[in-house]
Amino acid sequence: MKAANFVSPKHGSVIQITKAEAKRLEQYWAAQPKNKTIKSGGLWLDDSGRHINAHGGGIMRYGDTWYWFGEHKADTTSSAMVGVMCYASKDLVNWRNCGVALYVSDKKGSDIERGCVLERPKVIYNKVTGKFCMWFHLELKGKGYSAARYGVAVSDRPEGPYKFLYSQRANAGTYPIEFGDKELTVLDTMDINHFKEWWTPDWYEAIRQGLFLKRDLGSGQMSRDMTLYIDDDGKAYHIFSSEDNLTLHIAELTNDYLHHSGRYTRVAPGGQNEAPAIFKKDGTYWMITSGCTGWAPNEARMFSAPSIWGPWTQHPNPCRGPKSEITFGGQSTYILPVGEQLIFMADIWRPKHPSDARYIWLPIEFEDGKPVVRWQDEWELSVK
Ligand code: GAL
Repeated sequence: MKAANFVSPKHGSVIQITKAEAKRLEQYWAAQPKNKTIKSGGLWLDDSGRHINAHGGGIMRYGDTWYWFGEHKADTTSSAMVGVMCYASKDLVNWRNCGVALYVSDKKGSDIERGCVLERPKVIYNKVTGKFCMWFHLELKGKGYSAARYGVAVSDRPEGPYKFLYSQRANAGTYPIEFGDKELTVLDTMDINHFKEWWTPDWYEAIRQGLFLKRDLGSGQMSRDMTLYIDDDGKAYHIFSSEDNLTLHIAELTNDYLHHSGRYTRVAPGGQNEAPAIFKKDGTYWMITSGCTGWAPNEARMFSAPSIWGPWTQHPNPCRGPKSEITFGGQSTYILPVGEQLIFMADIWRPKHPSDARYIWLPIEFEDGKPVVRWQDEWELSVK
């Protein structure tokens, strides 16, 4: 009897066994009870019986498998003690734990030293280079949230291991594409020393015009909550909270998806948006975000645009049902298209017990041409 490669559903590793044994094992695993529905807010167990530990995450499809990447959270701290986890599934409800995709480092002074803040990782596949590209929000160890950087890592395999490449602030020395002579003249005359007091009407107006953009021009723009998006033409974008979380930036990536190209735009200047999640439907780009209240939930916001470059228009809160005024207790992280279905994904944070944070996945419906996210205790997702 010849040997066969068999991927153990329990451990995710490839083992060499006889074909007859492989068949028996497949039948055994096929007979195990399977999750059929999505129950937001509950414990979601992986194939080893542990609650999935992939927070602030996103999902990438590769071949017939979905890969879920997210922050590993420890029991008592929100700092990164392990790194980015990866889970794999063929039906989006039963998940195989693939282990750690990107490890934090034990090297003192490393950008991703254990104990840093490593949040909202997202992975995209580059068809041209054949590489899997991971971007995340990074705060250096012991520096609170002051670094405001993005980090990039790369792998030849979807589940990793990912090799950390670099971290930095965004688009140093570069102005947004919409800044022409008029905007630059306004910036020229602006003096940050005149705006010591925050939140005044004058300060708001200056923020909208680019006060903090000018402040950070040399060092690069701040980069915190983030997502990635690949458009139909293969161009990819990094969408992140910048300018002290006051303004979102959408920055185009280079063709290898490992750097910014230098082209970027500002969205909702001064609007204080975090947790961006984006999708496109019938040529319209839709983005759902949150306000800035840390781990505490707040009311979701929604924007649309005819082009990724804008203009972006704000719409009312898309959530409906109990606790819709606080995004059902969650904060957006990703929107996954599955055929015609769109899944809104959010995190219910548990800052006192971070690893016990929960997940919200709800279908996006359309009413009067606009996305609506309605709470459902339980729903069935059909993956064709
Ligand atoms: C949230 C943000 C999270 C995390 C947290 C820290 O607003 O979305 O990703 O950074 O703040 O307080």
